[in-house]
Amino acid sequence: MADQLLSAVGRHDTLPAYYVRPEPQRPRLAEVAAGENIPTVDLGSGDRARIIRETGEACRNYGFFQVINHGVSEESIRRMMGVGHDFFKLPHEEKALHYSDDPAKKIRLSTSFNVKKETVRNWRDYLRLHCYPLEEFVPDWPSNPPLFKEVVSNYCKEVRQLGFRLMGIISESLGLEEKHIEKALGEQEQHMAINYYPPCPAPELTYGLPAHTDPNALTILLQDSEVAGLQVLREGQWIKVDPQSSAFVINIGDQLQALSNGLYKSVWHRAVVNTDKERLSVASFLAPCNTAEIRAPEKLTGGAAGAVYRGFTYAEYYKKFWSRNLDQDHCLELFKS
Ligand code: OGA
Ligand code: NI
Repeated sequence: MADQLLSAVGRHDTLPAYYVRPEPQRPRLAEVAAGENIPTVDLGSGDRARIIRETGEACRNYGFFQVINHGVSEESIRRMMGVGHDFFKLPHEEKALHYSDDPAKKIRLSTSFNVKKETVRNWRDYLRLHCYPLEEFVPDWPSNPPLFKEVVSNYCKEVRQLGFRLMGIISESLGLEEKHIEKALGEQEQHMAINYYPPCPAPELTYGLPAHTDPNALTILLQDSEVAGLQVLREGQWIKVDPQSSAFVINIGDQLQALSNGLYKSVWHRAVVNTDKERLSVASFLAPCNTAEIRAPEKLTGGAAGAVYRGFTYAEYYKKFWSRNLDQDHCLELFKS
């Protein structure tokens, strides 16, 4: 029900019990590394060999990197964040129209992760949209705020281009031809999650999003330029991803880990919350078309015997992903060959 939304209530003074994680699962914020960061790749440097090298290193060693000079306009970014904030400020009745807890729905406002499955809630509301092809989905997107459809469609187009460009760079960094990944994924789906994390009375006891890996191929995250919250697991240690104004955070999803035969990692990440400030992030997910067979090329497996994962379709994978809890074992483990 829509009144489960965090944004249905004003400020919360205490954390309801069903958000409290058992002691061993808490974020232990004091133990998060300070001063470490994920790499940044400057896509505007003009030095393609260097961009490919730096991207490959980031994908192998972190599974995460930030990009700057990425070609998505400042204006698009600013307007996207603007309509995202405006959407969550709408009156409750207006938002309630979009509420659903059915993960199969292509447009829905929801809360936590998968309220029907989970035992402990997460401190997040989110609006999830299918975004490709735009003509198919935009008519059903929210028409309030009035600029929502226009701003978000433009943003989606620019982000898709950036995604394809990155897939070219990632393909080449694996020694594959530039279009390899794009071809392997077929006519790609594109989804968006606008994540809204309200101020939380007890950030030590709960999560915005608990540790998870992304099930799709590539994620392009626009995070709040002022309020930090994203953390990435690196060699057993959580590190913070400092917000950089106008940068995108890029991460390898499970499908690229499979396509790269495990060379590139879809790593665990989480979002933590804070007491004073709300935080907004916009995640764009590029994903294989449902029927594409995901299988690492021979060049990377050295033959069937060297394949870490069996071939599978994204439809099969996605079904498995949503049938589980977000913070269980890595979903790809279930597809080992
Ligand atoms: C996600 C995600 C992180 C964030 O939506 O998959 O990891 O900072 N979001 O909101
Ligand atoms: Ni994620």
